[in-house]
Amino acid sequence: MGKEYALGPSSEFPSGKVVGAGPYAVGNSDGRYFAVSRRCRHLGADLANGSIDAEGCLVCPWHQSVYDVRTGRMVRGPQGVFAKVPGLGAAFKALTKVLPLGRGEVTERAGDLYVR
Ligand code: FES
Repeated sequence: MGKEYALGPSSEFPSGKVVGAGPYAVGNSDGRYFAVSRRCRHLGADLANGSIDAEGCLVCPWHQSVYDVRTGRMVRGPQGVFAKVPGLGAAFKALTKVLPLGRGEVTERAGDLYVR
């Protein structure tokens, strides 16, 4: 069983918050806690510095790729100059069907959150 990381009180973890905990980017997506591996599949940005969009997906801080946190799959490819590269977004979406972000388990005990 993997190492467990303490996240602190759930009362201090509102919807839209994302933090880093060990190998995980942990967040609150519309009231659902999630944990995914931290490195973006595009160029390795730390997803713990990402944000949650209006659909509850995780947005990479570097080139705004978007991940479904339930599946770990990229649902929108890299933006900016990378969005102009034909097929690049589709390729990364296909890649993450095979190699999605890893997922951890977030649990709440006595008002505190933990991830493993
Ligand atoms: S590193 Fe995440 S979109 Fe480029």
